[in-house]
Amino acid sequence: MIVLGLETSCDETAAAIVRRRADGSGELLANRILSQEDHAPYGGVVPELAARAHIAHLDRLVAEALDEAGLGFGDLSGIAATAGPGLIGGVLVGLMTAKGLAFAHDLPLIGVNHLEGHALTARLTDGAPFPYLLLLVSGGHCQLLIVEGVGRYERLGGTIDDAVGEAFDKTAKIMGLGFPGGPAVEARARTGNPDRFPLPRPLTGREGCDFSFSGLKTAVRKTLLDLEEVTESDKADLAASFQKAVGDILASRVEAAFAMAGRRLGPEPRLVIAGGVAANAYLREKLKSLCVARGASFIVPPPKLCTDNGAMIAWAGAERLALGLTDGFALSARARWPLTEIASA
Ligand code: KG4
Ligand code: ZN
Repeated sequence: MIVLGLETSCDETAAAIVRRRADGSGELLANRILSQEDHAPYGGVVPELAARAHIAHLDRLVAEALDEAGLGFGDLSGIAATAGPGLIGGVLVGLMTAKGLAFAHDLPLIGVNHLEGHALTARLTDGAPFPYLLLLVSGGHCQLLIVEGVGRYERLGGTIDDAVGEAFDKTAKIMGLGFPGGPAVEARARTGNPDRFPLPRPLTGREGCDFSFSGLKTAVRKTLLDLEEVTESDKADLAASFQKAVGDILASRVEAAFAMAGRRLGPEPRLVIAGGVAANAYLREKLKSLCVARGASFIVPPPKLCTDNGAMIAWAGAERLALGLTDGFALSARARWPLTEIASA
């Protein structure tokens, strides 16, 4: 089964092709991504600019993906596109393109929930078997779920204010480190002292596994204001202290989630992390050692498949297609679409 996947829900325009074999294993055949540069001057994604840039580049990326895989439309088994959640103009561009291609080439259409794309990527890259505990950490989302099967997600907890990627982006903005913030904060943190600034770790140690980041963000702002003159090494220390606080918060919540999930994760518990923030090397190491200490397996896709990409959409599309879960042309784009509301087999 070979599926083309389109991703256009934020500021990455992406097209990729994956193969899913009958035994459930996968292979990435082509992966084209354009990270839009139109937004940097504004310090955040401008939805209208993003949608226009998707229109300008998507057709070319699809042609390049087919070229890279050495395939034509006749070789495909289906066309998948992000149908939400995301910036509605961008989602519309990808979904309407997929509908046009599916109609023209008489192929099944699969509308994919962007979060399900992140959630299932570890099955493409590492063959992760169900069930697993999933920490989904991106620019718009921060939640812990038990993944029991395709379309079968139980939410254990989530953020009560900002998403963790948003906290990285805002921290970078406050410190003048540019956009997107996650990679900039990580780079600065590498040379900083993570123990210099005592920052809060909201909700850690509490029952349940909800997250909160707004108090941390405020503390970063206040710490910066309290410094008389902000040097480059102050910025590095603050980035490192912030990143360490995020690591402690995530670790505390994952511990709580393992306790809540208990036997439902089976005899060999697994943690999968996904979403853009899972590209962070410090956080990957931190959560890996937590898993080693508990005797759990730790699975995280390579960084370029953690941030938004087309492969995750093609793969989730292939998993759904294998179960006969396709969509009609009446399918609508959705700005909001919780993972727990999607159809399952
Ligand atoms: O999954 P993603 O590409 O888009 C969304 O669906 O939101 O995630 C983007 C988020 C941004 O907030 C970005 O700053 C963050 O992931 N991010 C990182 C890193 N790379 C991307 N955060 C921390 N460290 C990184 N290396
Ligand atoms: Zn994403």
